[in-house]
Amino acid sequence: MGRKIRVLIAKPGLDGHDRGAKVVARALKDAGFEVIYTGIRQTPKQIAMTAIQEDVDAVGLSCLSGAHKKLFPEVVKYLKELGGDDIIVFGGGIIPKEDIPYLKEKGIKEIFLPGTDTKETIEFILKNVKKEEWMYKKINHIGVAVKDLDKAIEIYKNMLGLEFKGIDEVEEQKVKVAFFKIGETNIELVAPTSDDSPIAKYLEKNREGIHHICYEVENINETLEKLKERGVKLINETPRKGAHGTLVAFIHPKSTNGVLTEICEIPKWKKF
Ligand code: CO
Repeated sequence: MGRKIRVLIAKPGLDGHDRGAKVVARALKDAGFEVIYTGIRQTPKQIAMTAIQEDVDAVGLSCLSGAHKKLFPEVVKYLKELGGDDIIVFGGGIIPKEDIPYLKEKGIKEIFLPGTDTKETIEFILKNVKKEEWMYKKINHIGVAVKDLDKAIEIYKNMLGLEFKGIDEVEEQKVKVAFFKIGETNIELVAPTSDDSPIAKYLEKNREGIHHICYEVENINETLEKLKERGVKLINETPRKGAHGTLVAFIHPKSTNGVLTEICEIPKWKKF
């Protein structure tokens, strides 16, 4: 699921022996990671810049020259400066055991001493880089309840001049929706297709206008699990089919200060 974990293997400082670093790089590649190797004699700043440019999840540093106490913390420092403080840094090489607490204090998450099985390194990365897939990505759309869809489309398309993306019918919800794209997000006009549609009932009690907000997530099932764990009241405990092949679920307004909130997952084959 998702993209591969990306790891930068780097050798800061002056020592020119990179057999160990290459062994680790090879093992990580074999384990399915995307591995980038910087080559020898890199400055901490160069390493941090490469890590950012390559958008890696972790940086593995190898140092045999004895300068690890200076070089490793500098990499961490530059990563922070460049906005990469979420990148995990680990190290290896010839490092005296007594230096490990100091390095950890400086933000190096783990040190692997010579002779460490590469399996340990792989497990460490998998454990620490696990993506929080339940997280919100963006506001996918704002839902606007309307009585007459054609009339509303006219207004949004021709008067306001928004980019019209098309109409879809969601039979389960007894609604027809029209999408308008605005940059990264959309306006979703929602109209009832029958009198017993939830939207029809809404419009009996409320005037036309903003109806719900929809957050897009990477993995809707994980998000729903997380919300349940936290005691959030859900209208849909499992995902439903939404418009345009999406998966959607609604959170009860009681749990969101009165805002009807939808979450959605866009299938990978259909980003819109
Ligand atoms: Co919606």
